[in-house]
Amino acid sequence: MTTHDAVEVITAKRDRAELSDSQIDWVIAAYTRGDVADEQMSALSMAILLNGMAPREIARWTAAMIASGERMDFSSLSRPTADKHSTGGVGDKITLPLAPLVAACGVAVPQLSGRGLGHTGGTLDKLESIPGWRATLSNEEMLEQLESVGAVICAAGDGLAPADKKLYALRDVTGTVEAIPLIASSIMSKKIAEGTGALVLDVKVGSGAFMKDLARARELAETMVGLGKDAGVHTVALLTDMETPLGLTAGNAVEVAESVEVLAGGGPADVVELTLALAREMLRGAGVTDVDPADRLADGSAMDAWKAMVRAQGGDPDAPLPQARESHVVTAEASGTLTRLDAMSVGLAAWRLGAGRARKEDPVQAGAGVVWHARPGDEVREGEPLFTLLTDEPERFDRALASLEGGYDISADGSSYTPQELVIDRIG
Ligand code: URA
Repeated sequence: MTTHDAVEVITAKRDRAELSDSQIDWVIAAYTRGDVADEQMSALSMAILLNGMAPREIARWTAAMIASGERMDFSSLSRPTADKHSTGGVGDKITLPLAPLVAACGVAVPQLSGRGLGHTGGTLDKLESIPGWRATLSNEEMLEQLESVGAVICAAGDGLAPADKKLYALRDVTGTVEAIPLIASSIMSKKIAEGTGALVLDVKVGSGAFMKDLARARELAETMVGLGKDAGVHTVALLTDMETPLGLTAGNAVEVAESVEVLAGGGPADVVELTLALAREMLRGAGVTDVDPADRLADGSAMDAWKAMVRAQGGDPDAPLPQARESHVVTAEASGTLTRLDAMSVGLAAWRLGAGRARKEDPVQAGAGVVWHARPGDEVREGEPLFTLLTDEPERFDRALASLEGGYDISADGSSYTPQELVIDRIG
């Protein structure tokens, strides 16, 4: 590999030049080894955020991050594979019912997930509220479970795209998370290295999402779909609404309980709708067109796959879930139609109650979170419960209540309510 100099690469991007393949390969490899310092990579990340990257540079950057670690191989499995990635939202528990549902339709789901940081929850944090469940599996255990159960949700091992692990931590503390080339390459390097055959991206748009506006969400989705297709992964993206939180719960154990309701054939309509929309895309991507996932929810086979998946990772799917020690009910101050429920306000409240973490090493409370008793469009009555706040530490209620202030509107005649489509667009 040609050797470059970090300052040469930084100044090239600072001066709006396109980086060469060789510069990109070198800087990623040298940063992973520790030969490029954090402050140099910070400067380069900021230059990329400000000046952007051409599609060729993004593709090469992604390839270099994949090459920094191992690639998994599921080609020995007897069924096709499909995975889903969500850019993160409030109440977004969709992976929990989705993975076993797709497995019940005959497609293996290798889900490498993360823990939550900030106001959006992490899938692993949610599953860890199930007594006994463990997130860490070896690659061999993962493969075995994919063959026997058909679905795995576990922590990504250290071997997968280590360049991204290092770079993401750095971006988090240098104001460079929001660069579309860096987000797209970060997400796609992990998904391509994971070795899934098909990938469905759920790109969230709105107050509770990473991408607040549709134009940027679309640009991110198009960039990621392009990267996936170039790497031979059948990739599509759905742009979905995150102005309103999903379902009726945000937290850990409360979201597991809601997911189990969906697997039992019930649950909130929006969670069911998005689970089925994503399942259909995953099945199509994997070439399975003769199964309707709605049938697998109705006949109990998705629930069977869920229980098998939880048990395979040491969890007891029938054990009671942890409950918060304290609760506080917020009642409606007027009667009328709930016309707005802001995802960011709810996400922040759940986080402040202890469901999420401020720093990577912080613990989360399994029982903490927010339950809302109405969704936009529903009628509410003065004095009836609107939210239930849950935490083990009652001193957290005040700050959680503050974040809900101004986070919803009740209108006497409902005239200001316009329903928002959940699936805004499909890119693929
Ligand atoms: N999630 C990732 O994995 N990487 C990013 O850069 C942003 C979100």
